This record gives sequence, C-alpha cells and structure tokens, in this order.
Amino acid sequence: MAKLKTHFVCQECGGESAQWSGKCFECGAWNSLVEFKEAKLPKNSKSSSKMSSGEVPSIQSLNSFTHENFSKRVSSFFPEVDRVLGGGFLWNSLLLVGGIPGIGKSTLLLQIVGRLSKSYKCLIVSGEESGLQVADRAKRLGLDLDSIQFLSTNNLEEAESLIQNYEPDFIVVDSVQTLATSTLESSAGTISQIREITQKFLEIAKSRKCIVVMVGHVTKDGSLAGPKLLEHMVDAVFYFESLHEGALRILRTQKNRFGSANESAVFEMSEDGLVEVLNPSEQFLSERQRGVSGTSVAALVDGTRCFLVEIQALVQRCFQGFPRRTFQGIDQNRVALLLAVLEKYGIDFSNYDVYVKVAAGGRIEEAAADLAIAAALASARLDKSIPEDVLLLGEVSLTGGIRSVQHLDIRSKEASRMGFKKIIVSESGNSKKISVPMGAQVLKIKNIAQLKDQLWAKSYSTVNKEVGA
Ligand SMILES: Nc1ncnc2c1ncn2[C@@H]1O[C@H](COP(=O)(O)OP(=O)(O)OP(=O)(O)O)[C@@H](O)[C@H]1O
Ligand SMILES: [Mg+2]
Repeated sequence: MAKLKTHFVCQECGGESAQWSGKCFECGAWNSLVEFKEAKLPKNSKSSSKMSSGEVPSIQSLNSFTHENFSKRVSSFFPEVDRVLGGGFLWNSLLLVGGIPGIGKSTLLLQIVGRLSKSYKCLIVSGEESGLQVADRAKRLGLDLDSIQFLSTNNLEEAESLIQNYEPDFIVVDSVQTLATSTLESSAGTISQIREITQKFLEIAKSRKCIVVMVGHVTKDGSLAGPKLLEHMVDAVFYFESLHEGALRILRTQKNRFGSANESAVFEMSEDGLVEVLNPSEQFLSERQRGVSGTSVAALVDGTRCFLVEIQALVQRCFQGFPRRTFQGIDQNRVALLLAVLEKYGIDFSNYDVYVKVAAGGRIEEAAADLAIAAALASARLDKSIPEDVLLLGEVSLTGGIRSVQHLDIRSKEASRMGFKKIIVSESGNSKKISVPMGAQVLKIKNIAQLKDQLWAKSYSTVNKEVGA
C-alpha cells in the first residue's frame, strides 16, 4: 500500500500547506484549509517533464510546430459557436464550459458532438449521467446515436486508458467535478481532485491530436467551482448563462488564448435542443406596442453583441398611504435616482405609484440605459408616447446632465439595423463613433430639460447632425 501523505489545501485558491492554519498563506482566506491524505504516486507514474506521449522536450524553432492539419480550425458546425471560439476549435486545446445546473451545458455539447461526429471521432466521458439518459437526450435532439461514443465513469485512470485505446479527436468531459483519480484519497469535486483531473486532460489535449472540452459546475456566486487555478490551466473558459427569463441562453467567453475574450452567442432552448438566435433584438422587440405612453427602447451591449430591449413604465396616482415603487429587471436604486432627477426637472412623482420593468424578462445593468429609463418614466407620467423610431443612449448624472456612453458604434449600428431613425445621445459624445444610415438623425442633448423638448417638440428643430442629408 502506498504511503499516505497529509497536507492542507485551501478551498479558495488551491494553495497547499504542510500545517493547518486559520488563514491561507497564499490568498489570505479564513477557514479555507482542508486536510487531504494523498497516496504517494509510484515513482514511474509521477508527472515529469516527459510528455505522456513519450516525447522528450527539446528547443525548436516555432516553424517546426506549424502543421497544416493542426493549425486548421475545426468547425463546430454551429456558426455562432465558431464565432465565440474565435473561428472554431483548435487542435491540442483544453476548454472549459461553466454554467449553473440545468442551464443546458450537456445539451449544447451533445449537439456539437452530434454534428462533429459525422467527420471526427468523438467521445463523451460522463461521470454524471448514464448512457441511457444521454441516449434519450440524443434521440430527442434527433442525433445519430450510432456515431456518438459514450463512456460512463467516475474514475480518471479508467477514462485515460480507454481514451488511449480509442484515440478520439474530440472529447467531452462531463463534468470535471464528478471525475476522481484513485491516487488521491479525497472525493471527487475537491480542489486537489479538480486539479489532478484538469492536469491529466491538459496532458491528453497537448500530447495527442485532439480537443478536450470539460464541463465545470459554478458556485452560488456564479464563479466556476474549484480554484482560480482551474481557469488558469485551461486554454479557454466559457460561461453558459440565461440571457433573459425563459428559454434564451448566452454563451460568453471569459478567457480565450486563441480568440477574443469578448464574444457571445445567443441560443434558444427548445424541445429540439438549442437553436442559434441570430437576431435577439428582433425577438425582444417583437411584441412592442406602438403609440402608447410609458415605453422606450434601450441598447445594451454584451461583449461585442448589442441587444435592443423595451423598457416599460407605469405611473399611477396614489390615493392611499406611501406611493409604491416596483421594479423588475432594473436595480431599484438606479430608478430611485432617475426619479429624483426627473423631480428636480419639474416632473412630479411624489403622489404616484411607479412600476418599471424590462419587457421579455430582460435585465438592465448598464448605466447606458439611464436615458431610456428616464424617458419611459417621463412618458408614463406625462402620458405622451415616445416616437417609435427613437432610441435613447445616455447615462444620467445626479445633476440631470447627460453623459456619453461607451460602444456608441455598436449600439447605433444595431439601432439602425432595427430601423430606428432618431438616436438621442449626449452632447459630449463622440458623434464620429455613431454609425447611422442615410437619412437617419443623431440628436444631441445636454440635460433632462432638453429630453422633453426633443421627444415631444412638434418637429425635431434642434437636430445637430443629419447623416446623409
Ligand atoms: N423535453 C424537453 N423539452 C424542452 N427542453 C428540455 C426538455 N428536456 C430537457 N430540457 C431542457 O434541458 C435542460 C437541461 O439541460 P442539460 O441537462 O443540458 O443542463 P446542464 O447544464 O447539463 O445541467 P446539469 O448541470 O444538471 O448537468 C432543462 O433545464 C430543460 O430546460
Ligand atoms: Mg449536464
């Protein structure tokens, strides 16, 4: 029996210590050290500088590493996924996909495997689900069951030896938290296990011509369970999250060594699986009512993508007690601040109930939507509708001034694509960054007082710029 070594591992950063202490020496976290008994690895199995393929490292020119077959990207056959990956999968890479339970990680990867398996040898290693469960899902998704190979195991060594024999091109590990190596006494999901599993799949990805995608669970605060070390070890990290309430999902890049870390793709979960949504704005605005008071449109940026969302406000006379303030999808402090600013500019909300929500279950976290929220509130209170082709972009300061926002180019491009003809922005913004088509107008305002004039003046008399006119 191998000799057991005891050490303490920090659950926050993965730092190790020979003795227990209340505070981790590496990251300073309190009460994070947990005891681990680790079986000493036999000398010949210890990871050394020798690659598992048997190659001895040597210094070579970069040119000797270029190989047409290796540098060519592998398409996932999902154009949106390819865009997020930076042009497709790269050979010898180890990727991590994180997301909360039930968000659709296994479904997305199974669909990718379903398409890839027509051209490549694909294997799903699952420590979470049985073959029956995965086959059932594959059937529902309409995939060819014969071409997808599946291995159900919780044991790393078992998985490794079968991978060596089968030699897959594409491996899905579902999930890194459910596999365990028998060289450690700790159970699956602990920091030392996660580190060993990741290290092993890193070796597999780098030493043979294949691509490995690992699924990772996320903790309550939304970060990947396991030390940050896990994110450092892999080549790219993606999060699969819910975009709006309901069926919309977004795949976001958190880190990508081979592409932009600022990409995202939108999907819709349906009975037939995940479907790429190429035009999310259209979906969010599809049921917008025109010509009514209390609605406006804001442009939100996520990575390099822009989504137009509808903001709805209802302001009703309060006849009893304190006026109600009810908000959905918007931070209540942000609306409270905007109400105070509007009050200062003569729009009274003191005896009115105020309700604000983002349509289609959306969420607004960007200050860039301030002006659109303020406009919806003013529109509801004054019972005057905002012209349907107006989009508002601006942050509102406590003095009532309008500040410019970032990504004016991305936002105005999306607005123009969706047919908005008048874009109201801050006077201080760089209008060169605004791209609008022929005939569209960019209207500049300095403060909340001018907002009213611009929205409800009979004609747009204070146009500062008319592009293409
Ligand atoms: N018949 C069905 N029709 C539509 N959607 C379904 C159906 N069956 C499952 N789903 C969707 O698939 C989701 C589960 O997806 P999946 O198992 O891929 O998630 P996951 O992120 O891998 O979860 P976990 O972390 O628990 O493994 C469900 O939450 C549900 O929304
Ligand atoms: Mg799953």
